[in-house]
Amino acid sequence: MPDTLTITDNRTGKTYDVDINDDTVRAMDFRQIKVQDDEFGMMTYDPGYTNTAACTSSVTYIDGDKGILEYRGYPIGQLAENCDFQEVAYLLLHGELPNQSQLEEWVQSLRMHTMVHENIKEQMASFRYDAHAMGMFISTVAALSTFYPEAKDVHCAENRMLQSKRLIAKVPTLAAFAYRHSQGHPDNYPKNDLTYTENFLHMMFKMTDNPYEPEPALVRALDVLFILHADHEQNCSASVMRAIGSSDADPYSALAGAAAALYGPLHGGANEAVLNMLNAIGHVNNVRDYVAKCKDGEHRLMGFGHRVYKNYDPRALIVKQCADAVFEVTRRSPLLDIALELEKIALEDEYFIKRKLYPNVDFYSGLIYEAIGLPVTMFPVMFAIPRTVGWLAQWQEMMEDDERRIQRPRQIYVGGREREFVPINQRG
Ligand code: ACO
Repeated sequence: MPDTLTITDNRTGKTYDVDINDDTVRAMDFRQIKVQDDEFGMMTYDPGYTNTAACTSSVTYIDGDKGILEYRGYPIGQLAENCDFQEVAYLLLHGELPNQSQLEEWVQSLRMHTMVHENIKEQMASFRYDAHAMGMFISTVAALSTFYPEAKDVHCAENRMLQSKRLIAKVPTLAAFAYRHSQGHPDNYPKNDLTYTENFLHMMFKMTDNPYEPEPALVRALDVLFILHADHEQNCSASVMRAIGSSDADPYSALAGAAAALYGPLHGGANEAVLNMLNAIGHVNNVRDYVAKCKDGEHRLMGFGHRVYKNYDPRALIVKQCADAVFEVTRRSPLLDIALELEKIALEDEYFIKRKLYPNVDFYSGLIYEAIGLPVTMFPVMFAIPRTVGWLAQWQEMMEDDERRIQRPRQIYVGGREREFVPINQRG
C-alpha cells in the first residue's frame, strides 16, 4: 500500500490522495480541495501550532509522552553527566561531539570573543538603576548588530559561524554587566583563563581586588543547568528566532527577538514566576489551599505542565539532583520544602494526573539560582545564556534548508467586510 491519505470532500463528493511522509501530510496538498474553481482552497487551522511541523530538523529530538530529550541523538542525561557546556555547544552547532583538538580550538575561539565594545558598556550604564536584567539583555543583544554590520551577510556559512561564536562568547558578559549594573557595582571584565561557567561566575560575583575562586560545585551545577537549557527544538523562542531569521535579518536582531519571546512567564520567565509563587505561598501549610486555587482556575501552578511533555520533564529530574548538590555547599532554601510539598500534592491530585501535568525544567532551577545568590530578575537571563546556542543551531540549520521560505502564516478572516467609511463627526 502506498503511504497516502485519501480524503473525501463531502461537499462535492470528490476524492483526493495526499502523500504521507514521516506520518505527516503537507498543508499545501490541501489547497487543491475546493468547491468552486475560483476559491482559494482548503487550509489547515492550528492556533498555537499544536500539531503543525514548520520545518525538518536534526538538532533536538523530544518524545514528550516518554519523557525523552536528545541533542543530536545523544540522551540529555549522558550529556549532562559527561560534558561541560562548551562541548555541548559544539555538538549542537556542528552536529558531532568534538575530539580533543577540536574542543580546544572551539574553546579558544570562544575565548577570543568574550569582550564587548566599551560603547556597549556605556549603553548599559545608561539604563535606570532598577531596570529589569532581561530588558537590558534583550536591548543590548539587539544593539550588538550595530557593532557588527557584516553580520547581515547571512548567506555566508563562515560568517554565520563567526557571529555565532561572538554571540555565545558575549552573552555571559552582557548578562553579568546587566547584573552588576542592577547592583550598582563596577563591571568585571572577562577572565579568559577560566572556563565558560567559571568566567561567568567571576564576572558576576568578584568583588574588590581579592582573587575570586568560584565554588567547584556551583561551577558544575551551572554547567549542568546550561546544558539542560541549551535547546528544546521548536519552542516559542526558537520559532521566533527562525521567524525573524527567515527574513534574512542578522542573528543579533533575530536573537534579541527570541530572547524577548523567552521573557514571557509562560516560557523562560517561568522560573522567576515559580520563585514568586513559592514566596507567595510562604509556608508548607498553605500549599493545599494554593493547589485548590490552581484547580479552580484562579492561577496556574508555575513550573508545572508543558506543551510537549506529558510525562516528567527529563530535565526536571536532573535539575532536582543538581539542587541537592548545590544545597550541600550553600544554605538550604526554605522555599525548597514548599516546592517539595507542592510537587508531592500535585502529583497525587486527580486534576494534575488527568491533564498529565508534571514539573518542568523550571520548577527547581529558580531555587538553584537563588542559592547561587541571583535575584529573580536574573533568572530569565540565566536561561537565555545557554539557549543562545540552541537559537543559533536552529537558525544555522534553517539558513541551510533548501525548503526555507520567509515565514508567513495564513489567517481565517472573521472581521467585517466592505464597510462604508463614516466621517468622524458622524460616528457614535
Ligand atoms: N497549572 C494548572 N493548570 C494547568 C497548568 C498549570 N501549570 N498547565 C496547564 N493547565 C491546565 C489548563 O488549565 C488546561 O485545563 P483544561 O483542559 O481544564 O482547560 C489543561 O491543563 C491544558 O492546558 P493548556 O494551557 O492547553 O496547555 P498548553 O500546552 O497550551 O500550555 C504551558 C503549556 C504554557 C507550559 C502550561 O502548562 C503553563 O502555563 N504552565 C505554567 C507555566 C510554566 O511553567 N511554563 C514553563 C514551560 S517550560 C519552558 O518554557 C522552559
